[in-house]
Amino acid sequence: MSNQYDQISDLYASAADRSVFKKILECPTLLAILGSIEGMSVLDVACGDGYYARLFRQRGAARVVGVDVSERMITAARRREREEQPALGVEYMVHDAADMPVLGSFDRVAAAYLLNYAGTRGQMLRMCEGMFANLAVGGRLAAILPNPDFDPAGPSPVKYGIAPRPPEDRRDGGAMSVDLLLDAPLTLNFFYWSRSAYEQTLAEAGFRDIRWHPLECSPEPGDDAAFWDDYLANPHAIAMSCSRPQLG
Ligand SMILES: C[S@@+](CC[C@H](N)C(=O)[O-])C[C@H]1O[C@@H](n2cnc3c(N)ncnc32)[C@H](O)[C@@H]1O
Repeated sequence: MSNQYDQISDLYASAADRSVFKKILECPTLLAILGSIEGMSVLDVACGDGYYARLFRQRGAARVVGVDVSERMITAARRREREEQPALGVEYMVHDAADMPVLGSFDRVAAAYLLNYAGTRGQMLRMCEGMFANLAVGGRLAAILPNPDFDPAGPSPVKYGIAPRPPEDRRDGGAMSVDLLLDAPLTLNFFYWSRSAYEQTLAEAGFRDIRWHPLECSPEPGDDAAFWDDYLANPHAIAMSCSRPQLG
């Protein structure tokens, strides 16, 4: 199994570690929509090198399993795991989310930038069904996705080091990419999906209570919150939550 992240695992991991965007927008929003994870089990799908998996353990999750299709990303995650003092005890596995076995009955599933890698609706459905099957009844899925409503003519996120290259016609399944403007630019390739495509596919897999959440800025002392105003006027990413309903 191999994907684009096998080629860029180290570059992506160090970009994520240094990303102020992740630290003050993406992380706080994802954690807020996951709700309390103290003592819970969390499955992190498309975990990359474990950026969120580590955070979930640090925030009190009792068991965290990270899954990614990229062997290099999982190798990097395991390397980080060996370096952590004290050890965090995150378990990492290589699986394609579209073909993921049942690994447990998790209280929470996180999927930061997974569903946008589905090239077809069928593939997205299999990803959603896999996450649904791994979620305990009443459990919640929280995801980060490229914002389907990002306006290419609106305020540009380039000053934040993010340069989306939107699809010409916003077709569902259309190829798109984003350049992360690092010392050496990094291009991530994925697919455009509309809100309704995501919503219908999640609902078809059994999820309910599907909600969209704009990213919220949670600056720490010393962070310049106003710097993010332009970003928040036209965000390139958005969060989403949904639940596996109670039986009956
Ligand atoms: C942008 S990175 C996000 C990593 C991490 N969630 C984060 O936010 O830092 C996207 C990740 O999705 C993984 N990925 C892409 N397609 C996948 C699939 N079909 N199954 C599992 N992981 C996948 C990639 O290997 C990559 O690690």
